[in-house]
Amino acid sequence: MMDSDSLNGARILIVDDESANVLLLQRILQRAGFEDLKSTTDPRHVLSLFTEFMPDLVLLDLHMPHLDGYAVMEQLRSRIAPSEYLPILVLTADVTAAAKQRALSGGARDFLTKPLDATEVVLRIRNLLETRSLHQVLQDQNVRLEEKVRDRTAALEDARLEMLARLAAAAEYRDDDTGEHAQRVGSLAAFLADALGISEEESELIRLAGQLHDVGKIGIPDAILLKPGALSTDEFEVIKTHTTIGASILSGSQSRLLQLAEEIALYHHEKWDGTGYAGLRSDGIPVPARLVAVADVFDALTHKRPYRNAWPAEDAIKYVRDQSGRHFDPSIVTALLDREGDLSSSTPGDPGHEEQGVQEP
Ligand SMILES: [Fe+2]
Repeated sequence: MMDSDSLNGARILIVDDESANVLLLQRILQRAGFEDLKSTTDPRHVLSLFTEFMPDLVLLDLHMPHLDGYAVMEQLRSRIAPSEYLPILVLTADVTAAAKQRALSGGARDFLTKPLDATEVVLRIRNLLETRSLHQVLQDQNVRLEEKVRDRTAALEDARLEMLARLAAAAEYRDDDTGEHAQRVGSLAAFLADALGISEEESELIRLAGQLHDVGKIGIPDAILLKPGALSTDEFEVIKTHTTIGASILSGSQSRLLQLAEEIALYHHEKWDGTGYAGLRSDGIPVPARLVAVADVFDALTHKRPYRNAWPAEDAIKYVRDQSGRHFDPSIVTALLDREGDLSSSTPGDPGHEEQGVQEP
């Protein structure tokens, strides 16, 4: 409970057209220890006084010339936030049920009947101020809780994104110990998505999900994944299962991001002409997977492999252009060629086996 000292610091605004009433109230309140008082006998001044003084409680006469108490409450309503508890205590000789009802629905919290009784005045005011004070404590707590929830949510989101990046890095670790290929493929796929006019939000999802395209490599034995030299047909069949392994690792999630990652993992080796891993063709291949297909090949070509050097960007672009309508969606190839100048040159990594079946030029 609030002690009387902290309540006595409350700002109280007195509105009554009769100065005798104002004086009486001032005297009662001062004797009870309230010091921060302002008053007016002109109801037309209430709004500006209210704004300037920011009272904790308003004592308001109902029957006044120019602007009655109901009209004043109407004016004040726009200044009082719905979340704020600002008590208006109505002073009236008019105690009919209808008048009370009207005042209550207009925003009054309580009534003081004239002639005023000093003890009752102080008691009612203390009660209302105490309620306001408790209300403010609750409000402050709510604000602090909301801040805390916001902070925790942001931290959770950061952790979630970091986990995805680390999962992608784990998958790459055995054949690219920097894990940078995965990140670059995600970034390039998002860059191409943006070039295609896909929304920023969706492009960002593609960037994050694209990093996980090869997560299924976790399930490929080292003897095959790290084998120096050419793979046999059977070994290549095993390599191909990284798409279905990846999809099953990512499957069944409620998260839109993981659903997208599952789709990309499953279909990033599809080819526009239908000659990819699962034989999907053209529009049957999900767009994010088509974007990652271009990004994956382009990034692999422009970075060093154990068995060949990195291609110059212009050769890689020529290759991608030649594959338009064969391996790649022509509209994505066009987008890449349009934005060719914006492609940042990245540092050569050391990724392992080519699963794309790219031929040397
Ligand atoms: Fe792959």
